[in-house]
Amino acid sequence: MFHPDLVFLTEDASHDAAIKHINDEAFGPGRFVRSSERVREQGPHDRRLSFVAADRGETIASVRMTPVIVGVNSGHLLGPLAVRPSHKSLGIGRELVRIALAAAQKAGSEMVLLVGDPPYYAPLGFRPTTPGAMTMPGPFDPRRLLAVCFGGVEALALSGEIRHRDRKL
Ligand SMILES: CC(C)(COP(=O)(O)OP(=O)(O)OC[C@H]1O[C@@H](n2cnc3c(N)ncnc32)[C@H](O)[C@@H]1OP(=O)(O)O)[C@@H](O)C(=O)NCCC(=O)NCCS
Repeated sequence: MFHPDLVFLTEDASHDAAIKHINDEAFGPGRFVRSSERVREQGPHDRRLSFVAADRGETIASVRMTPVIVGVNSGHLLGPLAVRPSHKSLGIGRELVRIALAAAQKAGSEMVLLVGDPPYYAPLGFRPTTPGAMTMPGPFDPRRLLAVCFGGVEALALSGEIRHRDRKL
């Protein structure tokens, strides 16, 4: 499906500079005020569940996963997801999401949350959540807060403050 020079890899520290460049290019400096970024600032992402795509050794796309708790449920916040303009619309973004979801499920995550466009994420299994049931440190459009749940958890039943798993109450 993908060109043989394109590989998907688990993220490590050697990818950090390229990932910063990819996210700066995709989202600009305003990205740090988004409420999902405020959750990500509360603690580190989980590299074991975060992935990059590399084309001939150059990192050209990234997805990160941050461990979060919401109410009684423990899972992950997906993002940022970004693909370099040179490599858009080749299915790389979707594949990174699929890989991250599979890894999270295998790791025992109960839900993967994100704030994103439903038309892009619904075919990947993301479902609407109950508007107003979950909060984050900052405003966001509740119609864009989507979830994939595992092990009998219901997206519409998720409620509480979304916070990093390391954050003390
Ligand atoms: C969104 C993004 C990650 C998609 O990555 P990608 O590798 O180009 O996406 P894929 O190849 O998997 O899918 C492409 C398809 O998704 C569609 N798509 C892209 N962004 C979309 C969006 N926001 N809403 C609906 N559809 C979208 C494209 O039109 C394309 O449709 P096609 O297959 O009919 O041509 C990439 O465009 C990107 O980095 N954008 C800037 C950062 C961003 O917005 N990240 C997502 C934050 S929620």
